[in-house]
Amino acid sequence: MCGIAGYIGKKNAAELLLKSIKNLEYRGYDSVGMVTLSEGKISMKKGRGKVSEVDSKVDFSSLPGTMGIAHTRWATHGKPSERNAHPHISASGKIAIVHNGIIENYLELKESLQEYEFKSETDSEILAHLIDKHYSGNLKDAVLKAIAQLNGTYAICVMHQDSRELVVARNGSPLALGIGEGENFIGSDVSAFVEHTKKVIYLEDFQVASIKENSVEIYDGKGNPVSMETKTIDWDVEKAQKQGYKHFMLKEIHEQPQVVRDSISIEIPELEKPRKIFIVACGTAGYAGLTGKYLLEKYTRIPVEVVYASEFRYSDPIICPGDLFIAISQSGETADTLAALRLAKEKGAKTLGIINVQESTIAREAGTVIYTRAGPEIGVASTKAFISQLVVLYKLAEKLSGTEISLTSIPDKIQGILNQEGKIQEIAKKYFRVYNFLYIGRNFNFPIALEGALKLKEISYIHAEGYASGEMKHGPIALVSDEVPTVAIAPRDSVYPKMVSNMQEIKARNGKVISVATEGDSEIPEHSTDTLYIPETREELYPLLTVIPLQLLAYYIADMRECDVDKPRNLAKSVTVE
Ligand code: M6R
Repeated sequence: MCGIAGYIGKKNAAELLLKSIKNLEYRGYDSVGMVTLSEGKISMKKGRGKVSEVDSKVDFSSLPGTMGIAHTRWATHGKPSERNAHPHISASGKIAIVHNGIIENYLELKESLQEYEFKSETDSEILAHLIDKHYSGNLKDAVLKAIAQLNGTYAICVMHQDSRELVVARNGSPLALGIGEGENFIGSDVSAFVEHTKKVIYLEDFQVASIKENSVEIYDGKGNPVSMETKTIDWDVEKAQKQGYKHFMLKEIHEQPQVVRDSISIEIPELEKPRKIFIVACGTAGYAGLTGKYLLEKYTRIPVEVVYASEFRYSDPIICPGDLFIAISQSGETADTLAALRLAKEKGAKTLGIINVQESTIAREAGTVIYTRAGPEIGVASTKAFISQLVVLYKLAEKLSGTEISLTSIPDKIQGILNQEGKIQEIAKKYFRVYNFLYIGRNFNFPIALEGALKLKEISYIHAEGYASGEMKHGPIALVSDEVPTVAIAPRDSVYPKMVSNMQEIKARNGKVISVATEGDSEIPEHSTDTLYIPETREELYPLLTVIPLQLLAYYIADMRECDVDKPRNLAKSVTVE
């Protein structure tokens, strides 16, 4: 969470940094700020709001100079406001810092910095004063001394008005250095600078780097020089643009046929058959994992446990050598998933990451990594990453069971659903003012009910709950009324008659039912207020199809409610703090 960026070179730093933080904005967007250095003087602009809102008031590009740092924030300590926005400047006015992470011992450190006047409510501001306190002519040394006192997570970028260098450090929050010709870049991820260079050094925990326009020097936490590999990244800038779509989310939903085509050819590495599989993830990646449980158990008969990463890490899990731990993550940076992976490694389990972002921390730390082929996913609501995670899980089931699972017909079938967008828009128009929704499904489509509800709530702010249909009578059916519609996922599969019964029970209580049914099913509309059709497929492949109309329904409802679909309130794409 939070995006940090830095530039040192010969170009106008402010214009470049403005573009960088726009690209990083998906990481947090409640306030924004920038500092540049020109003629030995630090100049700063910042404010509350999204990058373009603040920029229209303060005009970031007017900041002078050819080096600077910038930040787009997702608030942890202190509410979103101008004074809590980064950068923070030391009391001497000479040092500016941007920070992503949480300093857990900031109150204790603040006590020891009583001679400094604090201007914000953030944990981050202590860094500016602490570095200032340790500074005696060498910025890198001051940063090394300061970070030795920190508990918590950080990626920081620091500048001093008397020194033409940027100093960065990380522990637990990502940081990438973009290596240019006569210029260098810093970003929370490569999207901050990929238009300028594809040569990247990924800093590791406890490392510190001093970055000048013609050099990058990296040190370990004790100040010993270390050499790091420069990687060349494969990133299509065009793929991270909206390409004429109103929102990234809509574009990403429409990319799914191609994502499935690309993902079908992913090679699954050789894996020993484990005793037990743990799938650990958060949010949508967790629902992909839950779908994977149904699938892997059906095909391999290996028991699979799916656990939220935030629960796994504090639960003293019974995981042993011989077990396979699978972390699923789009970003590869989710703090809880990363901590869970580290715990599983400590306990001796084999680890596998199913990750979208190349060279992300989880990708680098997992014993084996399988990269999904979703391409850059910018919308905060995950769509194409989910479908690519599912494809990998089908392929994993195929590999571990030795049974072929053909997905070749799926891309065209998804395209067929996307072609019914007009019908989905009509349904969205009928329901977009509703306050509560239920989503139900069984067996393979139970995780899809959870995912459909998550998509709706996170982008439209409508309260939505997903349930296993069989649970309705155990409580949730009390919620049913003509004001609470239910989305019922009811393709023609082995649990179809049970789904029909559930739908009848809802209808009998005046509930409206929006069903997702298999093409040609004439019975389902009798029990539904509205029906969306998906093409027929094999039972275990339905999740790849049933999720598509639910993504579009959520999208159109949110758009009709004039919500900021790509940047929903309170959320961020990459959850790098717990
Ligand atoms: O980057 P990750 O896949 O680890 O992210 C996990 C969740 O934060 C993410 O799926 C989140 O739930 C999305 N906003 C859902 O659309």
